[in-house]
Amino acid sequence: MRIVSGIQPTGNLHLGNYLGAIRNWVRMQEDGECLFFLADLHAISMPHVPADLSANTREMVAALVACGVDPDRSILFNQAQVPAHAELQWLLNGTARMGWLNRMTQFKDKSGKNREGASIALFTYPVLQAADVLLYQATHVPVGEDQKQHLELARDIAQKFNNDFASEDAPVFTLPDPIIPRDAARIMSLRDGSAKMSKSDPSDMSRINLTDDAETIVQKVKKAKTDPEPLPSEAKGLEGRPEAANLVGIYAAMAGMDVDMVLADFGGEGFGKFKPALGEMLVEMLAPINARFVELRQDRAALDAILRKGAEKARALAAPTLEATYAALGL
Ligand code: ADP
Ligand code: NA
Repeated sequence: MRIVSGIQPTGNLHLGNYLGAIRNWVRMQEDGECLFFLADLHAISMPHVPADLSANTREMVAALVACGVDPDRSILFNQAQVPAHAELQWLLNGTARMGWLNRMTQFKDKSGKNREGASIALFTYPVLQAADVLLYQATHVPVGEDQKQHLELARDIAQKFNNDFASEDAPVFTLPDPIIPRDAARIMSLRDGSAKMSKSDPSDMSRINLTDDAETIVQKVKKAKTDPEPLPSEAKGLEGRPEAANLVGIYAAMAGMDVDMVLADFGGEGFGKFKPALGEMLVEMLAPINARFVELRQDRAALDAILRKGAEKARALAAPTLEATYAALGL
């Protein structure tokens, strides 16, 4: 299995990013050979601040490594240092069809009412995504619900290219299969059970940041919004209680338990008992991550070295596919 996955570089990482995204990468390392990239080329499809982009790329690398992505085992890099991504995108633009891209719902969502003012990059970035995975002959790509359509497009492009430009016994591209990420937890705000935990929430009390120290974590859990009822003894008792469900869900996700198992331990207890237990567990599990993250994010030389080494390995893996693509096109 060769797994390729990308993530947009963002700063201010929080528990939602960890449980919803980063931890899946850590676990995927058990499943096959992994290439993980920071999608910095994708980031320029939307308005952005250059200094923030480079800072966020480093910050994200620090978080990934602190959380357990091993740069000696997996290939961890940023797109911008591997020119083959942009090159292959251009080569694939000859194969991708306008009609295919016109059907992409993400473009419609992200461009909103301002279709005419959207960047060309926002329109064509599914082709870059195709290049990202086809470049490495990925066999498997983890995709959430919102990315399924883009992986289908990558397969369509690969298939058409192979049909048009390669012989049947020597295809240029492998058609990657989707893998659904395991228990991609959706973590809600600690202040509002109907809003996603997010870095853009103005209240810092709404989220647990990967930079929070033990005392801050305990305080945030203690102040988290709840209701006056004790915890139920089964998951269905959490219906209509979004804040309670979120806290129990966080406990379950961190402990690797299912919700019913957590409620078997805490059903009938009030939050006066549950919150300290949750706080303690979060501190225990996040403390080692926090320590590495806080240290590593200040070590610019180490982060740059990780990315440089990763990019070297990625460039070497990409070279034969890129060469075969040029040759197939008569270039
Ligand atoms: P934010 O919402 O804080 O801006 P991003 O949009 O930058 O986070 O998301 C980065 C990654 O983290 C994405 O893969 C996203 O699905 C995941 N993620 C972000 N917030 C949450 C959350 N509250 N619960 C689960 N996953 C999340
Ligand atoms: Na977001």
